[in-house]
Amino acid sequence: MGAILQSLGRTIAAGVVVLIVIALIVGGVTETSIWGLIKTHAWWAFFMRWLHVLSGVMWIGLLWYFNFVQTPSMPQIPDEQKPAVSKVIAPRALFWFRWAAMSTIVTGLILAWMMGSIGSLGSFARPHTAIAIGMWLGIIMWFNVWFIIWPNQKKALGIVQVSPEEKAKAAKLAGMTSRFNTLLSIPMLYCMVAQQNGGL
Ligand code: HEM
Repeated sequence: MGAILQSLGRTIAAGVVVLIVIALIVGGVTETSIWGLIKTHAWWAFFMRWLHVLSGVMWIGLLWYFNFVQTPSMPQIPDEQKPAVSKVIAPRALFWFRWAAMSTIVTGLILAWMMGSIGSLGSFARPHTAIAIGMWLGIIMWFNVWFIIWPNQKKALGIVQVSPEEKAKAAKLAGMTSRFNTLLSIPMLYCMVAQQNGGL
């Protein structure tokens, strides 16, 4: 077990193995073979939904980590220790953050296409009104990540060299946009979950 948990890659692989074992046990006990299920469109839509939620958890988890943990902690960290965050932790967190945002939007749009709700992005028509609003909120948040937060974080973290004034301006804009995405994450997640559950 120690050999598995000491490696993140092996830990994730072990999670997938546990999932496969669960599927086989449930299939055996309830006599509903997973092989029958995966021939259906409904199962593939479900599978895409699972990939989508995994990506979304990674994205919004890191967004909330920045807003609930990292940013409020910075004033309490002595100046000489700040590079540990700005040079090591933040760049790695931002890597997973922006690619999780990309994976969430890609899986979300594929899912919308599979569910027949992609057209609701233009019409907002029932029965897809909730997901149309949720998708637009998510799309705005994705745009903010890739075109405002990341370019400005590169300046703020010194990945791109700029003057001290520009650096301070970029840090402020990235921080405010990240805060704005935290605001949007509340109605966005409500709309995501509302679609299947009559919440709107
Ligand atoms: C970025 C743009 C996004 C798009 C285009 C998108 C698209 C979708 C679509 C099409 C659905 C299926 C709705 C249905 O049942 O018909 C869905 C469900 C869902 N999405 Fe998103 N989404 C996005 C962002 C996010 C984010 C950031 C999260 C964060 C975790 C998220 C979490 C969920 C959840 C939890 C569900 C409900 C799954 C269920 O009830 O089975 N989505 N999304």
